[in-house]
Amino acid sequence: MNLVLLGPPGAGKGTQAVQIAQSFEIVHLSSGDILRAERKNKTDLGNKAQGIMDRGVLVSDNVILAMMMDHIDRPDAAAGFVLDGFPRTVVQAERLDESLAEKGKKINAVVNIQVSEDDVVKRLTGRLYCAKSGRTYHVDFSPPKSPGICDESGEPLLRRKDDEPDVVRQRLLTYRQATEPLVGYYRERGVLCVVDGSGAPDSVTEAIRKACRPQ
Ligand code: AP5
Repeated sequence: MNLVLLGPPGAGKGTQAVQIAQSFEIVHLSSGDILRAERKNKTDLGNKAQGIMDRGVLVSDNVILAMMMDHIDRPDAAAGFVLDGFPRTVVQAERLDESLAEKGKKINAVVNIQVSEDDVVKRLTGRLYCAKSGRTYHVDFSPPKSPGICDESGEPLLRRKDDEPDVVRQRLLTYRQATEPLVGYYRERGVLCVVDGSGAPDSVTEAIRKACRPQ
């Protein structure tokens, strides 16, 4: 099964993609996580993406498409994948569809996770992550057992630079201009489901599982 999770920054795409990948035994491919790993490893791609990501605007379609298609074509994605943060423009969605069709594959379902802008701002400004384990927390909604320390690695938790309030505002604007048109794109293709992302994480996971289950 090949899935896409859509939604504004902070909708919970990453949180949900981890659960959905486990539940359907498919691989989780997050364009943001892959870019952050490139930055950590100081690759050419990572160095180029750094300033762009910190400003809350988009990395170019060609760069993202090459990076994501490389991951989609790997053996661990052969049984299926859940995409998080990609595609993010209509050009990315069209080229993804073309590329999958050449391999006799397609996107089976796209889940649009809906959350209000107030909730998005609360979620992003309270988000913490661990650079070692990759786990994400929230100071109020999903706190670690010891404040500021990762439950898994024991390392201090960090804040993403692009979770600063003025960058969050830019990311929301970028989302509305470049990514929201994908809702119509996938609705026209008959693969869109809409899920309310405002509830507790487990109830949102259950709603996504139901929406994606083959009929
Ligand atoms: P990316 O990392 O993809 O950022 P994003 O889409 O803005 O999404 P986030 O990771 O911020 O949020 P999320 O929806 O995953 O929420 P999360 O689960 O963490 O992209 C970063 C940058 O990379 C972009 O700005 C761009 O520059 C570049 N980029 C990436 N992909 C690209 C592409 N395709 N094309 C071009 N450029 C690209 O949850 C957020 C917080 O809320 C957490 O603290 C979590 O604990 C909490 N939370 C989650 N669910 C709930 C809930 N139900 N209730 C309460 N709290 C919750």
